[in-house]
Amino acid sequence: MEKIRKAVIPAAGFGTRFLPFTKSTPKEMLPIIDRPTIEYIVREAMESGIDEFLIIINESKESIRTHFGNNVQLEKFLEEKHKKEELDLIKELPNKIKVEFTYQYQQLGLGHAVLCAEEFSNGKPFALLLGDDVYVGNNNVPATLQCINAYNETGSTILGTLKVRDEDVSKYGICEPFDMNCKDRLVKLKSVVEKPSLDKAPSNLAIGGRYILLPSIFKYLKTQERGKGGEIQLTDSILRSMAETSAYSYEIDGRRYDLGSKRGFLEATVDFALDRDDLKDDMIKIIKDRASKI
Ligand code: G1P
Repeated sequence: MEKIRKAVIPAAGFGTRFLPFTKSTPKEMLPIIDRPTIEYIVREAMESGIDEFLIIINESKESIRTHFGNNVQLEKFLEEKHKKEELDLIKELPNKIKVEFTYQYQQLGLGHAVLCAEEFSNGKPFALLLGDDVYVGNNNVPATLQCINAYNETGSTILGTLKVRDEDVSKYGICEPFDMNCKDRLVKLKSVVEKPSLDKAPSNLAIGGRYILLPSIFKYLKTQERGKGGEIQLTDSILRSMAETSAYSYEIDGRRYDLGSKRGFLEATVDFALDRDDLKDDMIKIIKDRASKI
């Protein structure tokens, strides 16, 4: 079976939920403490064995490209000042991984964004990571690696999922397993539906922004008609592909932060600080201090 070496990260959206910040700065550059969110996504993929990256951007997102490239002037400055630690911080990613960029000129939906990755995929299966979903995998197994392991077991399309509350099903792609009573993390799927209303939702198993896709997905994306919200939906193409190749959902074992929401962004900032030796004590003091005054 083909090893998963490639990852695609769509980052061409307007980020309207974070206006006015996103007027000038891509939402993917919002920091969780001292790293842009997209770096957490790239690192998750790196830690899952990925070494080739494609980030899909638009013309107003050049700062993402800058972030993953070398900054020769800054490197020279840090070298002269003998700031080895800072130098290592900025050189680590450009030294370790290859990141390519492509442009999505029209915002026609996630399916359309993924179609921009056909050349990069080059006939190989690949991981797709959406930037709004940041995971901390349990037992130190990154979410993408969990999905890759599920792919290695099945050779099929994998949708990384999470269970959501009834009131949230209409915000996600929702999976319909063949066996509705199956308690395993890995379940074979009968269908998927994009953002159904609660009464039409087949389950509470929501697609959580992690996928392993087969190269045959492009065939469906190319002929995909507009779906929910008038957009070309990846979920619709995955559904059509299921007539040819099977798909499984894998319920991700870990904590997930919805960086598409302000609340998720706040939670991530607090939790990531609590997980860091250099910030934990300060964060605890801040929380206790504020809580005592409320
Ligand atoms: C996209 C997908 C949806 C998935 C979600 C996960 O929706 O279309 O199927 O459940 O990401 O975050 P979006 O949130 O971009 O509208």
